Amino acid sequence: MRWVVDKVDVVVVGAGASGLMCAATAAYRGKRVLIIDHANKAGKKILMSGGGRCNFTNMDAAPKHFLSDNPHFCISALRRFSSQDFVDLVDRHGLDYVEKTPGQLFCEHSAKDLLDILMTEVEWSGAELKLNTKIHSIDFQDKQTIVKTSQGDVTCESLVIATGGLSIPTMGATGFGYDIAKQVGHDILPTRASLVPITVQPDRKAQLAELSGIACDIAATANGTCFQEPMLFTHRGVSGPSILQITNFWQPGEALNINLVPTLSSDDLTTVRQNTPKKSFEGFLSNLLPKRLVELVKTEFPWLNDRSAQTSNDQIDALYQYLSNFDIAPNGTEGYRTAEVTLGGVNTSEVSSKTFESQKQKGLYFIGEVLDVTGWLGGYNFQWAWASGYCAGQYV
Ligand code: FDA
Repeated sequence: MRWVVDKVDVVVVGAGASGLMCAATAAYRGKRVLIIDHANKAGKKILMSGGGRCNFTNMDAAPKHFLSDNPHFCISALRRFSSQDFVDLVDRHGLDYVEKTPGQLFCEHSAKDLLDILMTEVEWSGAELKLNTKIHSIDFQDKQTIVKTSQGDVTCESLVIATGGLSIPTMGATGFGYDIAKQVGHDILPTRASLVPITVQPDRKAQLAELSGIACDIAATANGTCFQEPMLFTHRGVSGPSILQITNFWQPGEALNINLVPTLSSDDLTTVRQNTPKKSFEGFLSNLLPKRLVELVKTEFPWLNDRSAQTSNDQIDALYQYLSNFDIAPNGTEGYRTAEVTLGGVNTSEVSSKTFESQKQKGLYFIGEVLDVTGWLGGYNFQWAWASGYCAGQYV
């Protein structure tokens, strides 16, 4: 059914994390706000995030946890709306949550509890939500903007683009935000899927697939950045926190170091030989690595179950090299199909870090993931959505 709304103060396109936050903030200020989304449900990514329990913020969130061509851009908003501010909001609604890894807050029961809070805020604020609505065109005029949609046309003073990035197209992700930005002359920094599993070359894939399902603590290093967290072997390659994190810093074709024994040095192996000459390195490694992984190492080093006293320095060096520079033969990532975020996006040097208004088009605002601001894994990306949404909501 068509709706007829002629004029509102603010149209927010995208009923995701940043859009809902912005809409409620603006409507609480007395603005008449309409949120438009083409999906049949608001906040789909919130529902699927954090394994269904949404890692909704990180108490340590600071600018150093965000990547951007313009690293200073995020500072002001993160300061004006901190993780504690978001925690205060969910506390007012009585959300049950838990801190898993230090700093990372997850819903105790379900991500739906968090989405319910946002929807309650939207309702209390008086913002209106229209789902299943396609935007045909946006016409920027002198003092107003006309948004033409599948359900009617609406005129507004402020238009907020909160349409997110390109990851998980099946959940409604589109490049709409980038298209609107380009329409008014914005520069879009190259986008790529990130916080995403890494795929491996076909001949290595068969070997590593044998290890599918096992996890171990590793150090992943690329371009000078290192994450020491678990890695998970999958049927297609490798995943787990350390791998997802490193994809913010690594691109196919670049060097990627995987150290299976980040707590060991080559000298430690020599000491093992000295201290336990009658025991094998197989036994020693079995205390550090999953059994199936040790079996794979043994196919490369058949002497592994000999007494360590029998191994030469060269053999120990070769073993350490193999373990500390484990070859996963990466050939790419799983792409937007499974990526948590999109790196790159609307160039923030053309957007106000205070109001989030475009410097190219008066009355146009960009918030959330559509901007060239990407957080590490661990609740940082939602914190950016809340902070940018809240801050823009103060000015639209
Ligand atoms: P978001 O993607 O939330 O919302 C965009 C909205 O715009 C959607 O509702 C979409 O339907 C709508 N839209 C798009 N195109 C449109 C168009 N043409 N017309 C109308 N509407 C349109 N982060 C984190 O901090 N902790 C976590 O635990 C996770 N976990 C996680 C898991 C998975 C599987 C994914 C994919 C992502 C995460 N993230 C995350 C990342 C987090 O979900 C993401 O950074 C935020 O949702 C971004 O918020 P936005 O509001 O910018 O976009």
